[in-house]
Amino acid sequence: MSHLALSCHRTAQVFLSAKCSRSVSLNSFCGLKSVGASASSYSLFGGHSLSLFQRHAVVVRDLETVVAPGQARAAAYKVAVLGAAGGIGQPLSLLIKMSPLVSDLNLYDIANVKGVVADLSHCNTPAKVCTFTGADELAAALKGVDVVVIPAGVPRKPGMTRDDLFNINAGIVRSLVEAVADNCPNAMITIISNPVNSTVPIAAEVLKAKGVYDPSKLFGVTTLDVVRANTFVAEKKNLRLIDVDVPVIGGHAGITILPLLSKTRPTVEFTPEEVEELTVRIQNAGTEVVEAKAGAGSATLSMAYAAARFAESCMRALDGDPDVYECAYVQSEVTELPFFATRVKLGKKGLEAVVSGDLAGLTEYEQKALEALKPELKASIEKGISFANKQPTAAV
Ligand SMILES: NC(=O)c1ccc[n+]([C@@H]2O[C@H](COP(=O)([O-])OP(=O)(O)OC[C@H]3O[C@@H](n4cnc5c(N)ncnc54)[C@H](O)[C@@H]3O)[C@@H](O)[C@H]2O)c1
Repeated sequence: MSHLALSCHRTAQVFLSAKCSRSVSLNSFCGLKSVGASASSYSLFGGHSLSLFQRHAVVVRDLETVVAPGQARAAAYKVAVLGAAGGIGQPLSLLIKMSPLVSDLNLYDIANVKGVVADLSHCNTPAKVCTFTGADELAAALKGVDVVVIPAGVPRKPGMTRDDLFNINAGIVRSLVEAVADNCPNAMITIISNPVNSTVPIAAEVLKAKGVYDPSKLFGVTTLDVVRANTFVAEKKNLRLIDVDVPVIGGHAGITILPLLSKTRPTVEFTPEEVEELTVRIQNAGTEVVEAKAGAGSATLSMAYAAARFAESCMRALDGDPDVYECAYVQSEVTELPFFATRVKLGKKGLEAVVSGDLAGLTEYEQKALEALKPELKASIEKGISFANKQPTAAV
């Protein structure tokens, strides 16, 4: 596989609004694209946002003249957000509502989500938003869904580790994934609920018990670690944010988060002190937010941004974009552990390939950190598997 050409050369064709209900060709409208891309790749919320909004404004004004007849393509994908009334769920749903690739957005929560849906439904983007509250409406929320995003569960408070959330969130993820297995077994499932290192193995066991496990469709969302690594490296090295791409491997908790700074693109030199400082900051960035929020939860806005980018990448891949790469925590054979985060190539059928090349040629620091994270990640995986097997899921 050639080394990650992350830019997207395809032109997005979108419906903008009911008023402008013809399809238009815009290469800049959406773009929650992974960065590390060339300057020709636009990300609405990335480094080019200002110029992008300016471009967008111009394009909207000139809409009547840029329509390309015969190039119409309607928004096509159905997305469900489970836990949509929460701190992550609400901004995430807004960002997904902005995607031109979404035709239907089903918002589900055990808390009342009607208000969120009423609010979002006034945004004049194509996705139709529907509300589903309570377990009785979960099956309907999932029917025919292509991408399921799961931020349901409790967040950390100061002094807690992600593993402290296990007792509550493990059960939540298990019951939600059971419903996914029953109602949309072919969907891409993206799990945000912590501890991701354990909730993804739990989901895999549930799907296996239901006889519908497809490892290429199950993802732990680690995009926030990449987003943070890119931001911190760009700040430290005075680089343009849009240019920076740092692969982050391993898992999604403490030392299991391993940024491969030596593989940063563009190539940058770091002193040993910088490597130590950046690595520790990226690993503890979630705690930075938890402490700043002082009891009011963990990262929600940056997480929503990161998860929306991952969901958008899933849909671009389903849509046939041949050039979609993201880091994600997936079933993997790159190490002796059954689950591991690396860069992956996404395609029409989900995970198409794991980019194992990133693990070659590590620095001594990275190699040591990789060995050090394995016991902790292994224990989290085993904890998830043993939880799922203690209270086994009934087959369909
Ligand atoms: N993967 C990551 O990088 C990352 C980053 C930040 C937070 N998180 C995790 O995301 C999760 C959500 O965080 P938050 O800040 O949005 O929490 P929150 O408490 O603000 O929202 C959680 C929502 O989930 C809902 N919920 C609870 N049980 C449910 C169930 N059985 N079905 C449907 N909905 C249910 C709640 O009603 C609530 O609306 C936490 O587990 C947190 O640790 C992950």
